[in-house]
Amino acid sequence: MASLQEFILSLKEKVQQRSNDIDELLTNFQISLEDCKKYAFVKDSKGCSRNLIFDEPEVCRLTLSVWKPGFQNKIHDHGQSNCYFKVILGLLEETHFRDGRHIADSVYKEGQVCQMTDTGACHQMKNKHHAHSVSLHVYIPPFDRCNTYDEAGGAAIPVTPSFISRYGFAVDRESRRLFDV
Ligand SMILES: [Fe+2]
Repeated sequence: MASLQEFILSLKEKVQQRSNDIDELLTNFQISLEDCKKYAFVKDSKGCSRNLIFDEPEVCRLTLSVWKPGFQNKIHDHGQSNCYFKVILGLLEETHFRDGRHIADSVYKEGQVCQMTDTGACHQMKNKHHAHSVSLHVYIPPFDRCNTYDEAGGAAIPVTPSFISRYGFAVDRESRRLFDV
Protein backbone atom coordinates (compact mmCIF):
# COMPACT_ATOMS: atom_id res chain seq x y z
CA MET A 1 0.00 0.00 0.00
CA ALA A 2 1.32 3.42 -0.91
CA SER A 3 1.32 5.98 1.83
CA LEU A 4 -0.45 9.30 1.54
CA GLN A 5 2.97 10.97 1.64
CA GLU A 6 4.02 9.09 -1.50
CA PHE A 7 0.77 10.07 -3.13
CA ILE A 8 1.32 13.74 -2.26
CA LEU A 9 4.83 13.63 -3.79
CA SER A 10 3.46 12.15 -7.02
CA LEU A 11 0.60 14.64 -7.03
CA LYS A 12 3.00 17.58 -6.72
CA GLU A 13 5.07 16.16 -9.58
CA LYS A 14 2.01 15.78 -11.81
CA VAL A 15 0.81 19.30 -11.03
CA GLN A 16 4.27 20.71 -11.77
CA GLN A 17 4.20 18.92 -15.13
CA ARG A 18 0.72 20.39 -15.72
CA SER A 19 -0.48 16.82 -16.23
CA ASN A 20 -4.19 16.15 -16.58
CA ASP A 21 -3.82 12.55 -15.41
CA ILE A 22 -4.83 13.19 -11.81
CA ASP A 23 -7.74 10.74 -12.08
CA GLU A 24 -5.30 8.07 -13.29
CA LEU A 25 -2.91 8.86 -10.43
CA LEU A 26 -5.72 8.58 -7.88
CA THR A 27 -6.94 5.34 -9.46
CA ASN A 28 -3.51 3.71 -9.55
CA PHE A 29 -2.49 4.62 -6.03
CA GLN A 30 -3.75 1.99 -3.59
CA ILE A 31 -4.49 4.30 -0.68
CA SER A 32 -5.73 2.42 2.38
CA LEU A 33 -8.31 3.45 4.94
CA GLU A 34 -5.56 2.85 7.50
CA ASP A 35 -3.51 5.63 5.85
CA CYS A 36 -6.45 8.02 6.10
CA LYS A 37 -7.75 7.25 9.59
CA LYS A 38 -5.73 9.91 11.39
CA TYR A 39 -7.39 12.59 9.21
CA ALA A 40 -10.96 11.25 9.56
CA PHE A 41 -12.65 13.60 12.01
CA VAL A 42 -16.40 14.02 12.42
CA LYS A 43 -18.60 16.57 14.12
CA ASP A 44 -22.19 15.99 15.31
CA SER A 45 -23.38 19.17 13.58
CA LYS A 46 -21.87 18.23 10.18
CA GLY A 47 -23.39 15.74 7.72
CA CYS A 48 -20.16 15.89 5.76
CA SER A 49 -16.96 16.86 7.53
CA ARG A 50 -13.99 18.27 5.60
CA ASN A 51 -10.46 17.56 6.82
CA LEU A 52 -7.35 19.20 5.43
CA ILE A 53 -4.43 16.84 4.70
CA PHE A 54 -2.12 18.85 2.46
CA ASP A 55 -2.20 22.34 1.00
CA GLU A 56 0.08 24.10 -1.43
CA PRO A 57 -1.45 27.57 -1.83
CA GLU A 58 -2.66 28.34 -5.36
CA VAL A 59 -1.37 24.95 -6.54
CA CYS A 60 -3.18 21.94 -5.07
CA ARG A 61 -4.97 20.70 -1.98
CA LEU A 62 -5.73 17.24 -0.59
CA THR A 63 -8.66 16.75 1.78
CA LEU A 64 -10.62 13.91 3.36
CA SER A 65 -14.40 14.00 3.66
CA VAL A 66 -16.37 11.86 6.09
CA TRP A 67 -20.04 11.39 5.24
CA LYS A 68 -22.78 10.44 7.69
CA PRO A 69 -25.07 7.61 6.53
CA GLY A 70 -27.70 8.95 4.11
CA PHE A 71 -26.36 12.52 4.12
CA GLN A 72 -26.78 14.53 0.91
CA ASN A 73 -25.11 17.89 0.45
CA LYS A 74 -26.48 20.81 -1.56
CA ILE A 75 -25.86 21.26 -5.25
CA HIS A 76 -22.54 23.12 -5.38
CA ASP A 77 -19.69 24.18 -7.63
CA HIS A 78 -15.99 24.33 -6.78
CA GLY A 79 -15.28 27.84 -7.99
CA GLN A 80 -12.64 27.66 -10.72
CA SER A 81 -11.05 24.54 -9.24
CA ASN A 82 -10.83 21.10 -10.83
CA CYS A 83 -11.87 18.37 -8.42
CA TYR A 84 -11.06 14.67 -8.24
CA PHE A 85 -12.10 12.25 -5.53
CA LYS A 86 -11.65 8.61 -4.65
CA VAL A 87 -13.94 6.58 -2.41
CA ILE A 88 -11.82 5.08 0.39
CA LEU A 89 -14.72 3.57 2.36
CA GLY A 90 -18.39 3.14 1.52
CA LEU A 91 -20.48 4.22 -1.44
CA LEU A 92 -21.15 7.72 -2.82
CA GLU A 93 -23.67 8.88 -5.39
CA GLU A 94 -22.86 11.89 -7.53
CA THR A 95 -25.52 13.85 -9.40
CA HIS A 96 -23.76 15.93 -12.02
CA PHE A 97 -25.10 19.18 -13.52
CA ARG A 98 -23.75 21.40 -16.27
CA ASP A 99 -25.01 24.92 -17.00
CA GLY A 100 -27.95 24.25 -14.69
CA ARG A 101 -28.99 21.04 -16.45
CA HIS A 102 -28.95 17.54 -15.01
CA ILE A 103 -26.31 15.49 -16.84
CA ALA A 104 -25.86 12.18 -15.00
CA ASP A 105 -26.16 10.17 -11.80
CA SER A 106 -23.26 7.88 -10.92
CA VAL A 107 -22.50 5.67 -7.96
CA TYR A 108 -18.87 5.27 -6.87
CA LYS A 109 -17.72 2.27 -4.88
CA GLU A 110 -14.55 1.85 -2.83
CA GLY A 111 -11.51 2.45 -5.01
CA GLN A 112 -13.42 4.28 -7.74
CA VAL A 113 -12.51 7.80 -8.83
CA CYS A 114 -14.72 10.67 -10.00
CA GLN A 115 -13.66 13.95 -11.51
CA MET A 116 -15.41 17.27 -12.06
CA THR A 117 -13.33 19.30 -14.47
CA ASP A 118 -15.89 20.55 -16.99
CA THR A 119 -16.69 24.24 -17.28
CA GLY A 120 -20.03 25.22 -15.76
CA ALA A 121 -20.18 22.03 -13.71
CA CYS A 122 -21.95 21.55 -10.38
CA HIS A 123 -22.70 18.45 -8.44
CA GLN A 124 -24.48 17.02 -5.44
CA MET A 125 -23.24 14.08 -3.39
CA LYS A 126 -25.06 11.52 -1.28
CA ASN A 127 -23.72 8.84 1.02
CA LYS A 128 -25.48 5.64 -0.11
CA HIS A 129 -23.64 3.49 2.45
CA HIS A 130 -25.40 2.20 5.60
CA ALA A 131 -22.51 3.60 7.66
CA HIS A 132 -20.01 6.45 7.29
CA SER A 133 -18.32 6.85 3.91
CA VAL A 134 -14.85 8.33 3.51
CA SER A 135 -13.49 10.01 0.37
CA LEU A 136 -10.18 11.56 -0.59
CA HIS A 137 -10.36 14.79 -2.62
CA VAL A 138 -7.83 16.63 -4.79
CA TYR A 139 -8.49 20.26 -5.76
CA ILE A 140 -6.39 22.02 -8.40
CA PRO A 141 -6.05 24.87 -7.58
CA PRO A 142 -7.40 25.02 -4.01
CA PHE A 143 -10.55 27.08 -3.45
CA ASP A 144 -11.87 28.77 -0.31
CA ARG A 145 -15.14 30.07 -1.70
CA CYS A 146 -17.73 28.38 -3.87
CA ASN A 147 -21.48 28.48 -4.46
CA THR A 148 -24.41 26.32 -3.47
CA TYR A 149 -27.74 26.19 -5.30
CA ASP A 150 -31.18 25.35 -3.89
CA GLU A 151 -32.09 23.85 -7.25
CA ALA A 152 -30.34 23.15 -10.55
CA GLY A 153 -30.00 26.41 -12.46
CA GLY A 154 -31.09 28.42 -9.38
CA ALA A 155 -29.40 31.46 -7.87
CA ALA A 156 -25.81 31.01 -6.70
CA ILE A 157 -25.44 31.29 -2.92
CA PRO A 158 -21.79 32.05 -2.00
CA VAL A 159 -20.38 29.89 0.79
CA THR A 160 -17.01 29.55 2.54
CA PRO A 161 -16.53 25.85 3.31
CA SER A 162 -14.59 25.16 6.52
CA PHE A 163 -12.36 22.38 7.79
CA ILE A 164 -13.01 20.58 11.08
CA SER A 165 -9.41 19.33 11.25
CA ARG A 166 -6.11 20.44 9.73
CA TYR A 167 -3.12 18.20 9.19
CA GLY A 168 -4.51 15.55 11.58
CA PHE A 169 -5.45 17.96 14.39
CA ALA A 170 -8.99 18.97 15.39
CA VAL A 171 -9.80 22.67 14.97
CA ASP A 172 -12.10 22.68 18.03
CA ARG A 173 -13.45 20.48 20.83
CA GLU A 174 -16.49 19.33 18.86
CA SER A 175 -14.33 17.57 16.25
CA ARG A 176 -13.52 13.98 17.13
CA ARG A 177 -11.82 11.10 15.37
CA LEU A 178 -14.11 8.51 13.74
CA PHE A 179 -11.53 5.74 14.12
CA ASP A 180 -9.04 4.73 16.78
CA VAL A 181 -5.50 5.49 15.60
FE1 LIG B 1 -18.05 18.78 -4.54
